Amino acid sequence: MNSASSAIATPNDLEAYWMPFTANRSFKKNPRMVSRAEGMFYYTPDNKPVMDGTAGLWCCNAGHAREPIIQAIQAQARDLDYAPSFQYGHPKVFAAAARIAALAPGDLDHVFFAGSGSEAADSALKIALAYWNVSGKAAKTRLIGRERGYHGVGFGGISVGGMSNNRKFFGSLLTGVDHLAHTYDREKQAFSKGEPDYGAHFADDLERIVALHDASTIAAVIVEPMAGSTGALPPPKGYLKRLREICDKHGILLIFDEVITGFGRLGFAFAAERYGVVPDMITFAKGVTSGTVPMGGVIVRKHIYDAFMGGPDNVIELFHGYTYSGHPLAAAAALASLDIYREEGLFERARAMEGAWADAVMSLKDEPNVVDIRTLGLVGAVDLAPRAEGAGKRGYEFIERAFHEEGLMIRTAADTIAFSPPLIISESQVEELIGKLRRTIRAVAN
Ligand SMILES: Cc1ncc(COP(=O)(O)O)c(C=O)c1O
Repeated sequence: MNSASSAIATPNDLEAYWMPFTANRSFKKNPRMVSRAEGMFYYTPDNKPVMDGTAGLWCCNAGHAREPIIQAIQAQARDLDYAPSFQYGHPKVFAAAARIAALAPGDLDHVFFAGSGSEAADSALKIALAYWNVSGKAAKTRLIGRERGYHGVGFGGISVGGMSNNRKFFGSLLTGVDHLAHTYDREKQAFSKGEPDYGAHFADDLERIVALHDASTIAAVIVEPMAGSTGALPPPKGYLKRLREICDKHGILLIFDEVITGFGRLGFAFAAERYGVVPDMITFAKGVTSGTVPMGGVIVRKHIYDAFMGGPDNVIELFHGYTYSGHPLAAAAALASLDIYREEGLFERARAMEGAWADAVMSLKDEPNVVDIRTLGLVGAVDLAPRAEGAGKRGYEFIERAFHEEGLMIRTAADTIAFSPPLIISESQVEELIGKLRRTIRAVAN
């Protein structure tokens, strides 16, 4: 084994790093390496531009190397590198919480910080359980997720999540979890722009689950307003409102996982605003710092926070938290990112571009092997027919070719190609992105 410093100086030594959610052996044979980024582009170590079709991992909403964010992080590292998050505070985390709560609708007024989307999801589930406990209804412990849902990789998140590969290797998971049916029906929804007309009734599946378990045992339902990681499934028209109504009817908390949909991706600060639905909690991460420093969190409604605030005031109200909850560098990066979003009107920009974006993405409809296309906000997804050899093969070829031949970064879920560019993308760059996608779809046709 090389010493640490010589290993870093040897870029072809790729063995030590076990890459997450990656085909390690294929990657290491033909790496997709980026070493610099600016605006809409990454750059390979030999300086070849790679268009960022995915805002990193759905997170760099303000684009890359934004000077105000860089300066905020640098200054924060100098002024206060770290402060304990338990029993001590620092000013920027309070400021960040207030700014985030102000963006959320209704009385979603209080923010609990975590270090990632997975921690945010697990925090929300724990807060739901503890809420019913402190409210004298400790029998309400069941957690309801949804098929094809993704809520990160903690044990809570994979338990309520509905992506089979993320679950099947990891034992029996949490007990007392059930799942709503997913909302996708290709036959009835294919090639819908935005929310499909068909499918509000999928929300009624919650009635089936309530009939089975009884509402007295159910703590919360967690869904992504738009299922992202499974291949971008927009909610059917009216679906989220109906889910809210059924939760209200039965006294069940509703959690929106907005780790992807938060901070402008759907043209609003949160999808909750777009759909006129106020959930009891919103989880967020990614765009809050435009991907620059890890941060996640949960925004909770006033009645939830207030339920914990009884008892002697020297007693800790919630026995939960992380060393890096509200880390000073993350809080500084969040404030600078939120400033950029506001000053450049990036959420409104995404909203204004949505129609032209949807038309541009739909223009791929007649390309070979395209079996469905979905769009929402500045998100697009193209389902390609799988190769006869099996699911995921064509998708993997797509990632490789897009990167090496076209200089394009995209995401895949099996044979679904998903793209979600930074919200700063220009109209001509949308055309450029679509051209790269079109050529790559043709290149993987045979
Ligand atoms: C909806 C949703 N929840 C949670 C997560 C997990 O976030 P992280 O990877 O930061 O743990 C993701 C990540 O893509 C996500 O899309």
